[in-house]
Amino acid sequence: MKLASDETVLFKKAFHIEGGNFQSAGSVSKQIKRILKQLNIDGELIWRAMIVAYEAEMNVVLYAHQCEVTLEISPSKVHMTFEDEGPGIPDVALAMTEGYSTATREMRERGFGAGLGLPNIKKTSDQFEINTVVGKGTTLDMDIMIA
Ligand SMILES: Nc1ncnc2c1ncn2[C@@H]1O[C@H](COP(=O)(O)OP(=O)(O)OP(=O)(O)O)[C@@H](O)[C@H]1O
Ligand SMILES: [Mg+2]
Repeated sequence: MKLASDETVLFKKAFHIEGGNFQSAGSVSKQIKRILKQLNIDGELIWRAMIVAYEAEMNVVLYAHQCEVTLEISPSKVHMTFEDEGPGIPDVALAMTEGYSTATREMRERGFGAGLGLPNIKKTSDQFEINTVVGKGTTLDMDIMIA
């Protein structure tokens, strides 16, 4: 029987992202997508998990030094954490505002810097938490509910 509140972790995997590495940018979200497909997670949930994972991954590539990602899947949710070492975010409310971005010209030329990543992560996930310490790093914690 599948209980809506069943948070027993059935699958857990850790990933590493390197800041500044555009060669491998997007590879962690791709791996997560593959895993969710193999586990037969509903397509709409995979699509939402991908928006969240890709935006979080690209923020690490653009702004942080490195990041540990954890993916945990239970019958009730897909849970992801992104724990980075980096500059942190001095004003989280501002960073969460649509259109706010500190992206450089080079980053904008690569198509980033609309200032929509963090607001979209929040909108797309069912639970979103951000914690940041200036000079240390930023942690994102997200749930996508399955049932
Ligand atoms: N992991 C992070 N470490 C440090 N700063 C971050 C991090 N993630 C986001 N920020 C800061 O928050 C701002 C807003 O992030 P957000 O993802 O919303 O927009 P963006 O990355 O600038 O543009 P877009 O995501 O639309 O390409 C960034 O410009 C950056 O200043
Ligand atoms: Mg972004």
